[in-house]
Amino acid sequence: MSSATIAGYNEAVVRRFAIATVFWAVFGFAAGTWVALLLAFPELNMGLEGSFGRLRPVHTTAVVIAFAGNALFTTSFYVVQRTCRTGLWGGPRLANFVFWGFQAFLVMAIVGYVLGVTQSREYAEPEWYADIWLTIVWLAYMAIFVGTLARRKEPHIYVANWFFLAYIITVAVLHVVNNLAMPVSFVGAKSYSNFSGVQDALIQWWYGHNMVGFLLTAGFIGAMYYFVPKQAERPIYSYRLSIVHFWALIFLYIWAGPHHLHYTALPDWAQTLGAAFSIMLWMPSWGGMINGIMTLSGAWGRLRTDPIMRFLVVAVAFYGMATFEGPLMALKPVNALSHYTDWTVGHVHSGALGWVAFMTFGAFYYLVPRLWRRPLWSMRLVEWHFWIASLAIVLYITAMWVSGIAQGLMWRAYDEFGFLRYSFADSVAMLHPYYVTRALGGVLYLTGGLMFAFNIFMTIRQPAPATLPGARDAAPARGAAPAAGS
Ligand code: HEM
Ligand code: HEM
Repeated sequence: MSSATIAGYNEAVVRRFAIATVFWAVFGFAAGTWVALLLAFPELNMGLEGSFGRLRPVHTTAVVIAFAGNALFTTSFYVVQRTCRTGLWGGPRLANFVFWGFQAFLVMAIVGYVLGVTQSREYAEPEWYADIWLTIVWLAYMAIFVGTLARRKEPHIYVANWFFLAYIITVAVLHVVNNLAMPVSFVGAKSYSNFSGVQDALIQWWYGHNMVGFLLTAGFIGAMYYFVPKQAERPIYSYRLSIVHFWALIFLYIWAGPHHLHYTALPDWAQTLGAAFSIMLWMPSWGGMINGIMTLSGAWGRLRTDPIMRFLVVAVAFYGMATFEGPLMALKPVNALSHYTDWTVGHVHSGALGWVAFMTFGAFYYLVPRLWRRPLWSMRLVEWHFWIASLAIVLYITAMWVSGIAQGLMWRAYDEFGFLRYSFADSVAMLHPYYVTRALGGVLYLTGGLMFAFNIFMTIRQPAPATLPGARDAAPARGAAPAAGS
């Protein structure tokens, strides 16, 4: 790989992160499809007891931390250099350390789960040795990002960078606090949390919810504020709205974690506080969604002809949908029905497949030709990817809504004598057709992921053309409208 190419930008590390993202996408979607198949057809575990329990965190880590994480490294490093008109601070060595250090963390984590090493905290399963390593890598990432902002040649810090910065700082704080633990064995890689009882649960869900709020949301909003205006060739609809919803979003998200602990030992007032902040989150979430969608004003026709634009806009629409559903599920009476059911899994995947992954696909179809200075190999394949992945999401989330609500209703159904109408086993048997439908959705989504990987591979493999598509892709003129300059 060649090193920096445009005006001293470090594009080599961005390319590495891009390739890693594509790899982890296929790996993570395959793991998801496999666990979906295991739930539909448990006999597929081939007698390996515990295989679902060990492979489920392999899936969640591979998609949330590895795929979405690498996508954010790629987009944040791509965007910060262009909007600050300067290369990455710290030089290529530090950037490469962050790249290899992060991949090493992922391998440590995933190999650990398969061997049964876990601290059983959702989305924070790795044991202390991997956590300490990630802290070092993450601090290096933060230093590069902040250092690059500090030596920018643009007076203005473009709003995408505010969102990236909020995500990087908050993930550092969440990771360190949630993983405060006392190691008790080196060989057995075992530790005990410094928190206990309900405080432990609250810290864990403060972490879990804000990983959603800052990694899966703020980071990808940062990407949205660069790639949607660029692909639409329009300035952001309202720059003022982007600033207002930034401050509102980061202030409100941090309080909403207790909605994961309704009807538990957590004091009632704290549960209500979590629900109230979740309802308030509706506004900044929709502020961002409206700002993203309205950036297309005057360019709606692009949706008919441009499948990359379609990925980006449908991503923003799914963001709107997931952030409409989330506050509803945070209300205690609704949560009484949805909690412990597949409704939650449906909510998760409308955000994950629709928002996070579609934003990544759209951003990558935009940036890969610019990073490698070759036209995209096949626009037709992008079109096919879009429709297959959209069909997959519809199958996945509708199956989960129906099965989730049916589960919740069966668990609370009484007969005229006050006895439960259904046994738990009845509710499990009812799930089968929905699990088969979800697995089919997974197979289709994975097929789309393979098309994505193939298209990118073929794009990179092409010989460089005489006129370079990325050559005009210098830095934007003014932060408010990256579409104008690059
Ligand atoms: C305003 C925004 C949102 C609110 C208020 C919200 C609220 C909620 C609620 C109430 C739950 C169920 C908690 C439970 O019963 O245990 C939940 C679960 C979840 N949500 Fe959201 N949500 C929002 C947006 C999103 C988005 C955009 C994503 C993904 C990109 C997402 C990902 C998740 C995940 C991963 C879980 C499952 C956590 C777990 O139990 O493992 N949420 N959310
Ligand atoms: C081919 C695509 C995918 C399939 C088939 C799939 C399937 C699954 C399955 C079967 C589960 C376990 C559900 C359960 O235990 O009841 C799960 C959990 C989860 N998946 Fe996926 N998944 C896919 C893609 C993704 C992506 C792209 C993301 C994130 C960017 C994601 C994030 C999650 C999360 C956060 C959970 C835990 C949910 C919870 O605890 O409520 N998945 N997935």
